[in-house]
Amino acid sequence: MNAQPTPVLLPVDLDAFWMPFTANRHFKANPRLLARAKGMYYWTQDGREVLDGVAGLWCVNAGHSRPEIADAVAQQLNTMEFAPTFQMGHPIAFELASRLAALAPPSMDRVFFTNSGSESVDTALKIALAYHRARGAGQKTRFIGREKGYHGVGFGGMSVGGMVNNRKTFSTAMMPGVDHLPHTLDIGHNGFSRGLPPWGAHLANELERLIALHDASNIAAVIVEPISGSAGVILPPVGYLKRLREICDKNDILLIFDEVITGFGRIGKPFAAQVFDVTPDLMTTAKGLTNGAIPMGAVFAQRKIYDAFMQGPESAIELFHGYTYSAHPAACAAALATLDIYAREGLLTRAASLSSQWEDAVHSLRGIPKVIDVRNFGLIGAVELEPRAGKPGTRAFDVFLKCFERGVMVRQTGDVIAMSPPLIIEPRQITQLVETLGEVIRGID
Ligand SMILES: Cc1ncc(COP(=O)(O)O)c(C=O)c1O
Repeated sequence: MNAQPTPVLLPVDLDAFWMPFTANRHFKANPRLLARAKGMYYWTQDGREVLDGVAGLWCVNAGHSRPEIADAVAQQLNTMEFAPTFQMGHPIAFELASRLAALAPPSMDRVFFTNSGSESVDTALKIALAYHRARGAGQKTRFIGREKGYHGVGFGGMSVGGMVNNRKTFSTAMMPGVDHLPHTLDIGHNGFSRGLPPWGAHLANELERLIALHDASNIAAVIVEPISGSAGVILPPVGYLKRLREICDKNDILLIFDEVITGFGRIGKPFAAQVFDVTPDLMTTAKGLTNGAIPMGAVFAQRKIYDAFMQGPESAIELFHGYTYSAHPAACAAALATLDIYAREGLLTRAASLSSQWEDAVHSLRGIPKVIDVRNFGLIGAVELEPRAGKPGTRAFDVFLKCFERGVMVRQTGDVIAMSPPLIIEPRQITQLVETLGEVIRGID
């Protein structure tokens, strides 16, 4: 694909923008500015082509700058740019919810709209509390998250999350009544597993220990990512998620899957719940819902959860929760156009047909000095590097920078390089992505 030479001026001043999850001073001294994107590629501000190995930030599943989405959003903005969804409604919000319900696991057919993954998580936690209360079990208030989990940056998501850098500064501001399961990353037992790791289903039994400690009558919900992305791609051991489901069922505890990265085709079916054949009670999504084009999230709920709220006087509001921009018309239009593309191009199952080539490609990096693990599932891949003594994360950060210089965008988290390309990736681009990464790792000290 050729770069169209549209000159984009460097902003005069990089100071004012306080960048999220970024080393601001390092970035501003050496800016990496993206100016255009199409399909599998970004172009930098100075016109260099960069292959997108991370779908932007795990969200651009159908590839960049899809005109169908832009046209749908423009048309919606010209027709009705905003309509409230508090005590009012607009048709495409209902259409989108129905379309999403049809994609979800059976009985997960009630949808609450948010604007991000973080809002989806906090919404799901609140729905869990309110659900138990609505059915007369208001003492069920405790949550169980997992070490190394990432559930966004709201106070709820941060509290159930388990990444120390996201938590340590805010330690005293955590939501009370939260415990964490152990994470499932164990390179000693599972290093270089192809697909799901065989060892570790028993780690789900830790949930029984926490139930014995607190009593099930006090526990509202367990929240996990079916596959964790942010902590460096952590896969569920074979049988682990089914075991969590069994223990939750036995103890009347809700199971929440955070599918913000696994949702919308990332691992070969619309949702990880379907791939792993484990249906949660609530499912949080965002990112791929609109192909990243407009911020939007959605929480899917089992019908039994929604129904538990539908009692009392019909004129009474059942859930005191929502956002001004819940089901924003432009976001609904973007999501509907995105779902059309996914359906037309078979993208929600494409990862399944590419996964064996993907697996072979990422595992070809095994054997390179300093590569201590390779992990993959669907169109997700990760390479873990041995940390530099006393300088954790710096080796992988250097790899990320060098890859970018060489025209490939990957994501660094700790000493892990993660990859999650748009689902439209072609075999030759998988080769380019992984070969470039391999060459860069070989050349790094
Ligand atoms: C599993 C998971 N949950 C929640 C979030 C938060 O989403 P957002 O950044 O849209 O708030 C993310 C973001 O990467 C995520 O990976």
